[in-house]
Amino acid sequence: MTNHEFGGQHTDLKLSIVEGYLKAFAQALRPHFQHLWYIDAFAGTGSRTVRTEKRGSDLVEMPVEEVVEQRRGSAQIALDVRPSFDFAIFIEKNRNYVSALNDLAARYPQRRIVIAEDDANTALKRLIETNTWIDKRAVVFLDPYGMEVEWSTLAALAKTEAIDVWFLFPLAGLFRQATRKLTDIDGHKRAALTRMFGSDDWEKELYPPAEADMFGTLGERHRLADVAGLERFAKSRLETIFPRVLKPLALPINEKPQRFSLFLCISNPDGKAIGLASRIGSHLLNPARHIVVGPVVK
Ligand SMILES: C[S@@+](CC[C@H](N)C(=O)[O-])C[C@H]1O[C@@H](n2cnc3c(N)ncnc32)[C@H](O)[C@@H]1O
Repeated sequence: MTNHEFGGQHTDLKLSIVEGYLKAFAQALRPHFQHLWYIDAFAGTGSRTVRTEKRGSDLVEMPVEEVVEQRRGSAQIALDVRPSFDFAIFIEKNRNYVSALNDLAARYPQRRIVIAEDDANTALKRLIETNTWIDKRAVVFLDPYGMEVEWSTLAALAKTEAIDVWFLFPLAGLFRQATRKLTDIDGHKRAALTRMFGSDDWEKELYPPAEADMFGTLGERHRLADVAGLERFAKSRLETIFPRVLKPLALPINEKPQRFSLFLCISNPDGKAIGLASRIGSHLLNPARHIVVGPVVK
């Protein structure tokens, strides 16, 4: 068993939302399409190691031993969906995780599963280029640790007009790269932002020209957008390439500031397809369904 510890409480929620979508998607489209594909571009191992730390006793609580459990990761979840996807493609760059994915696939000899040990951007663009999409419908899950997803990959996915994209957008990463003062953005951060947004337009959109003082000297340019503003900016960029981008869910749900925005981007411009995907997606992404209300203290 390869241990893969990642995420936190929000990870279970994220995975249950994607699972809900995969089930509804497969059920709705199975009668109409022979080729339903699931593509996991940051596939992990198929499972997630969750460790609950050992806790000593205090005046109120009993001691708790460390508990380590394995929960399903996105690859396993996708294979469990019924009706099944015809083809599952798992892309993963870590060799040990690829080996765990191979073990997972070996448990499903009757299923069509391909595992690519590769960079997600390279493999996705190749996959898109070497297939026709008119006869297929697919869901892609982009679940990176950070800012690995390139704009050119999103643009290629949007162009297929056949793929719904679940994208865990790394808002905290964006917040770190897009520093308050424009002059603090070094070459490395600049390149990361341009790779993520596809052009350097972020500079004029996020850092408006500063006012001149009474001597006509221009002040420093600052980012005015806060976390919510950065999320709006990311959504508006995605809307330049996808016909519909749903209002994302802020994750973790009960924490401020949010660290991620879970987006559903729909590439099919057909009104009926947008309607169906939006109905399912908006229901799943509705924060009111997920907010945890604490016990009432009397
Ligand atoms: C957050 S984990 C994904 C977890 C997975 N969705 C699950 O539920 O089990 C991110 C994964 O992406 C992989 N990864 C990171 N950068 C990558 C890249 N450029 N291309 C492909 N995989 C990458 C990591 O090795 C890691 O397994």
